[in-house]
Amino acid sequence: MSAIGIDDIELATTHHVVRLEDFAEANGTDPDKFRLGLGQDEFSVPAPDEDIVTMAAAAAAPIVERCGTEGLRTLIVATESGTDQSKAAGMAVHRLLGLPSRMRVVEMKEACYSATAALQAAVGIVTRSPDQRVLVIAADVARYELDSPGEPTQGAGAVAMLVTAEPRLLEIEPLSGLNSADVDDFWRPNDSTTAIVDGALSVTAYLDALTGAWTDLQEQGGPAIDEIDRILYHQPFTKMAKKAQLHLAGLTGVELDDRIVASPADSAGEGPAGEGPRDTGLATSTLYNRRLGNSYTASLYAGLCSLLDHDEDLAGKRIGLFSYGSGSVGEFLTGRVVPGYERHGRVQAVTEALDARVPLSMTDYRALHAAELPSSEDHTTPRVSTGEFRFAGIRGRARLYERA
Ligand code: CAA
Repeated sequence: MSAIGIDDIELATTHHVVRLEDFAEANGTDPDKFRLGLGQDEFSVPAPDEDIVTMAAAAAAPIVERCGTEGLRTLIVATESGTDQSKAAGMAVHRLLGLPSRMRVVEMKEACYSATAALQAAVGIVTRSPDQRVLVIAADVARYELDSPGEPTQGAGAVAMLVTAEPRLLEIEPLSGLNSADVDDFWRPNDSTTAIVDGALSVTAYLDALTGAWTDLQEQGGPAIDEIDRILYHQPFTKMAKKAQLHLAGLTGVELDDRIVASPADSAGEGPAGEGPRDTGLATSTLYNRRLGNSYTASLYAGLCSLLDHDEDLAGKRIGLFSYGSGSVGEFLTGRVVPGYERHGRVQAVTEALDARVPLSMTDYRALHAAELPSSEDHTTPRVSTGEFRFAGIRGRARLYERA
């Protein structure tokens, strides 16, 4: 069987950003609570004319431009923040990108986990039909109530991945470890625009899922810890990846480097990672998420982008990926990085996109958060974002999108 996996990958985010330094000042909180306590510096916030569809289209457009649409017969959008109870957000993405009509388009849901189910479904489709390619897009806006503990971990982003039988980035290996358990740690009822969360339970449920998925991977005959070179985790906030790393070290009895670096200055004096605990890329894989905030389904794959863009020694290396979705599902999968992957790095483009976000004052951020878009009335959104795709408003209860 030929190798199947991720051939191309792109990350997109929003027009606005909230800096946690400003947030801390406005709330009278020590900024280190966020920078060190949560491992977060900023969070992306969508403008009124942005949502998961505009981010998904922005992430996928460069891939479609580079790779074309030949053999593209499936689009799967994975999201927690769907735009409709019935119609898949991917339908609007399909039109905005001018994709062929001879395609299936579908949405997947299970909190932050579903992008991994989408990726595995894509691998299955390509296994059966190696001449086909599948576009998987993870896109989310993470929203918690104002003044709740989850608020500083909000964020937004989308990652698009092209899955093919000749992947140029990451070959997905067949075995993975799975764990599902019905837990009310985080969920969002149909009438709520913000998540309901039991923070402490969500952290233990995440770690329990990691135990279950890792144990299952070992029982399936998957690679041992010393056969995995880098490890990525779902990052609701990057300190959670550090907790996961420590947990996995405890499970395996192997010392793993658990440093998440806030800035180059923070690592000064800590010494090289060569001696002592094994460096599995934790600091390198958390660089983008520190600035994006939580992007739910996209978070793990934003971590993959960060690793691929910043680690120059990945060719042929095995990466472990732990995907977690509250509710809850955990999956530990592995993949091999394809030599030549570094030619596809887009660190400059991602950094420019992150730097270009327009900071919101606390007053504007709180007003934007509180604004509820009336989905039952015709509505035209103000033109704020400057990207290629925008959410133009609502007519007859249907959502309208435009491409510049
Ligand atoms: N300097 C340095 N560190 C500080 C500090 C300071 N001045 N003040 C506090 N801290 C540290 C605390 O010691 C604590 O560290 P540890 O976690 O290592 O103990 C950390 O900052 C967090 O502080 P609190 O314990 O006071 O917790 P909090 O009130 O900030 O809430 C949270 C944390 C419960 C995770 C909250 O952010 C939350 O509810 N988040 C949303 C839910 C979530 O992300 N859960 C993660 C698992 S679920 C999942 O992964 C799915 C998903 O995407 C949602």
